[in-house]
Amino acid sequence: MFITLEGPEGSGKTTHLPHLVEYLHEKGFTVFPTREPGGTSIGEQIREVLHSLKNAEMNPRTETLLYQAARAQFVEQVIRPRLEAGEIVISDRYADSTIAYQGYGHQQDLEQVRALVNYATGGLTPDLTVLLDVDVEIGLERGTQRRAKGGEWNRLDAYQLEFHQRVRAGYLAMVKQEPERWVVVDAGKGWDEVQQQLCATILKKLAK
Ligand code: TMP
Repeated sequence: MFITLEGPEGSGKTTHLPHLVEYLHEKGFTVFPTREPGGTSIGEQIREVLHSLKNAEMNPRTETLLYQAARAQFVEQVIRPRLEAGEIVISDRYADSTIAYQGYGHQQDLEQVRALVNYATGGLTPDLTVLLDVDVEIGLERGTQRRAKGGEWNRLDAYQLEFHQRVRAGYLAMVKQEPERWVVVDAGKGWDEVQQQLCATILKKLAK
């Protein structure tokens, strides 16, 4: 079973994932949590190039290709072997992030971006994708608060409100296109309520 968590900035995916893993563990499931675009040494090096403030001139096509390079390695080195061993893999972001950010956000040709993503993943699609959906302004404000407490500021944080609005609209369009794969959780609610809904959604899928 391959499950992915997606969402616009400040949707809280990253803070929910460890608690979700603990919850599923208590229910008797062994889960392998991971995140994009890291998870491999090559991926971490590419992530540095993507995030570095030195690379302000990066073209959206370069950005798209770098994410696919990291992803191709991640799929072959981490995800496929785990799935083949029968594990449940939960990834904080995956291919849909590219469609949302590079496709809808940067307004790149969606068909071309989909083709690149498909090439990078070798066609590996999640069994379930949870969208932690949050109003863009609330999400960006959460990010600002996180950075004020010492969180990282990176090149991608310079993208403007309109960019993030297109990203969120892109996610919602993807949910409509493939409703059988996606479940939307309202991440604008309180943390505990979001966590509870996320756990329930995933448990339901695993218990099937
Ligand atoms: P986050 O997962 O910590 O929110 O941050 C990762 C950033 O990388 C976020 O701004 C989204 C961005 N990203 C893309 O633009 N495309 C991708 O394919 C992936 C995996 C992430």
